[in-house]
Parts: sequence; C-alpha cells; structure tokens
Amino acid sequence: MTGRLIGTGSYVPDHYLSNEDIAKIVDTSDQWIRERTGVVRRHIVEEDTTATMAVQAAKRALEDASIQAEEIDLIIVSTIVSDVLMPCTACYVQNEIGAVNAFCFDLNAACSGFLVAYSTALGYIEMGLAKKVLLIGTELLDWTDRSTCILFGDGAGAAVIEAVDGARASICMHSDGSKGDSLLLPRNGTITMNGQDVFRFAVSKVPKVIKELLEQQQKTAGEIDYFILHQANKRIIDAVAKRLQVEESHFPCNIEEYANTSSASIPILLDELRKEGTLKKGQKIVLTGFGAGLTWGAVYMEI
Ligand code: COA
Repeated sequence: MTGRLIGTGSYVPDHYLSNEDIAKIVDTSDQWIRERTGVVRRHIVEEDTTATMAVQAAKRALEDASIQAEEIDLIIVSTIVSDVLMPCTACYVQNEIGAVNAFCFDLNAACSGFLVAYSTALGYIEMGLAKKVLLIGTELLDWTDRSTCILFGDGAGAAVIEAVDGARASICMHSDGSKGDSLLLPRNGTITMNGQDVFRFAVSKVPKVIKELLEQQQKTAGEIDYFILHQANKRIIDAVAKRLQVEESHFPCNIEEYANTSSASIPILLDELRKEGTLKKGQKIVLTGFGAGLTWGAVYMEI
C-alpha cells in the first residue's frame, strides 16, 4: 500500500511584476535576468497571505480529486513564511475548508518542502495512519533585494494523495547542514544567498539523487516520462537534463511565468501539467526538490 496522486490545485495572485518592472526598483535588466535564470515575470501578492493562498489551492485540489474535505485525514503545509508562528497554517486551512477529520501540521524544508511533505505523506499512508492526505506548498517572499528579488515569486500549490494497493512510489532524501549559510533567511530579514555555490550544489546533487532513485526502482532515465524539478532556475534544469542525457522536453518548466515559488513550485507545475492534459494515467514521474539547508531529494511515482 502506498500513495497515489489523485488531484492537484494551485493559486497564484493575479498581480505580477515583469523584469522591466523589477528594473525600475533595483539596478538590473530584463536581459540579465532572462539569461541567468529564464524568469520573465513573477506573481506577487497584494491582499493575499500564505494562508489564504493555501486555502485557494487546497479547495481546487479537492475539487480536482472529487473528494469532500471531511475525507481528508492529514493536512501538511510546507512554507518558510507562515503568516503566524503558531498555530500552524495547516490548522487554518483545515478550518477554512472544513476538513474536520484531519490531523494538521506544517513543515519547513525550504524549496525541498513539497518533496518532504510528499515523502511524509507516503510514510503515514504506508504505516496505515492516513488514507487521504492534502499537501500544500505556499510561499510569499521578499522581492526588494537586488540579488534575490529577480529569482522569487509568490504562489501556492496543492496535491491530494490517496492510499492505493498496487501503486508504486519511492523516495531518496538528503541534507547537508554544514552548508546552511549558502542560502539563509534570518527572522525578520531578507534572503542572503551565495548564488554560485547554490548553482553548483544543484547541478551536482540533483542528477546524483535522481540516479540513486532510478537505481532503487531499477529504471533508466529514458523510461521516465517527466522529471518535474523545483523551478529554481532554467539553467539548473537544463544542466540537469544534460547530465542525465535526457531531452529537455522531458523537463517541463514554467519558471518564465512564476519565477521560483520555493515549495509551491512543484505542485503549481504538477497542476498545470495535469490540467493541460500532459500528465496521463500510467506515466512514470520523478519529482525533485532542492534548496536551503542544504536539502535535496527525489520522489518516484506512477500516476
Ligand atoms: N542584476 C544585474 N546584475 C546583477 C544582479 C542583478 N539582479 N545581481 C548581481 N549582478 C551582477 C553582480 O554585481 C556581478 O557584477 P560584477 O561582475 O560587475 O561584479 C555580476 O552580475 C555577476 O554576479 P554573480 O552573482 O556572479 O552572477 P551569477 O552569474 O552567479 O548569477 C545567479 C547570479 C543568482 C542568477 C546565479 O548564481 C544563480 O542562478 N544561482 C542559483 C540560485 C538559485 O537557484 N537559488 C535558489 C535555489 S532553491
């Protein structure tokens, strides 16, 4: 018994800032941002909060899964910027959607957060402690600092996982706390990042963890329909594809529109791919997250 994805939802604010808009605020240019990151615009909250975005994404995921909120027995929210330190955002979501039978908690593993939430959900399901789990990544980041504002955007993505006999899933997760300073968000501060260190970390560790996962599953990279990577940077995604010797068309990307939405990026992309009909029953998918901690990991699933 393991978990299978049965629904997704996402919510991004309507308001966005183009690279040209950002260039009016900090010393940068559209060309610099496009060439280095692949980002063209990022959606930015006006009225919303991490909690209200999470609720919208959750409602859409439940609708997509065709289930009632009362059927959910676990809600996990991944965020690095919850509106309040307590209670957890997952409890707020529970109340707003009426998931009265759910146990709720938040977790923080930065941009790897959705992967950690997914693997936690699989753990609960495989132990027989949950049957239907709602996972949400929701983030709202500071965009006024020149070195990082170009990279990030706001949004939320959600997924519903259901316990199914005969489904296949596996997980590889890693952390390296000695590199914590490479990507840091102090309480009440702004993100500081050693961009080149983080870039090197991602392009070396992500292909390795994908190979480790494929070995576990006794599969080759060529057998995977889609690699859904955390949308941090188009150059990172292209470099990973190249190292795995897989066509870039197997690495869907929406960073152009949303920039890096941290733990929301994977479920937002999953939702887009499901809604446009790209993801189809029976396909083999690898999800890969990486980010502050440093943390990184990959999940194999059949949809
Ligand atoms: N606009 C214009 N110029 C900028 C700039 C900006 N927003 N930020 C920095 N620069 C300038 C620097 O001042 C430097 O100028 P100099 O050569 O005159 O000193 C030059 O651009 C190069 O800076 P550098 O930081 O070396 O750029 P880079 O090529 O490493 O690109 C990143 C910076 C952040 C785009 C790149 O390192 C990266 O993508 N890293 C990974 C980040 C990431 O994905 N983080 C999230 C992981 S979850």
